[in-house]
Amino acid sequence: MVPPLPDSGAGLLHPLVVAASRGALPEWAKARENRRRHMARVSALLGEWANARGEAPQEVMRWMAAGHLHDALRDEDQEVLRGKLAPPFQGLPGKVLHGPGVAQRLREEGVEDEELLHAIAFHTLGSPAFGPLGMALYAADFLEPGRILREEWRSELRRRAPEDLEGVVREILSARIRYLVGEMRPLHPETVAFWNRLSEGETWASASEI
Ligand SMILES: [Fe+2]
Ligand SMILES: [Fe+2]
Repeated sequence: MVPPLPDSGAGLLHPLVVAASRGALPEWAKARENRRRHMARVSALLGEWANARGEAPQEVMRWMAAGHLHDALRDEDQEVLRGKLAPPFQGLPGKVLHGPGVAQRLREEGVEDEELLHAIAFHTLGSPAFGPLGMALYAADFLEPGRILREEWRSELRRRAPEDLEGVVREILSARIRYLVGEMRPLHPETVAFWNRLSEGETWASASEI
């Protein structure tokens, strides 16, 4: 385990996180070229938002590292990932395993930044325990400009994100949940809990109202 760097801009960030903030992935990463380009775009967007919010340089680095790291095991064999994870992650669908897989590997490397680890582990399902970094990663993963999808709507959300992160995330999650329900697909309890947290302060609606 390498001790954290005590240097100026990086503060107490783990060296692996510092390297990732500059686009250098750990040697265990399993991500193909097109995936790496997506990760770089997510990272750039997170850097843009963090700067627009006036975050400190170390925080900007941390956000940018999350962008590069979140899909670092996206092209790893799903059953290999499953074999390394403990419950409750073990039982998740294959496509969701790469987030928890990266978080676990980072933890093994000595990364103790819980907000960062949680943001990466839950970047596909969403989580009611997200801090600003988790919210930003969830949004940037969906809003990065390389995706071909409802471009006008997404560019408007990209513009709003630095000042209204939760509002933007709520809009994205609403669209995703409506899509899944429209397809008659089940929702993961974590995703529902995330939605309810974002709707905090509003009164419960009875499903029988419609
Ligand atoms: Fe992902
Ligand atoms: Fe992603």
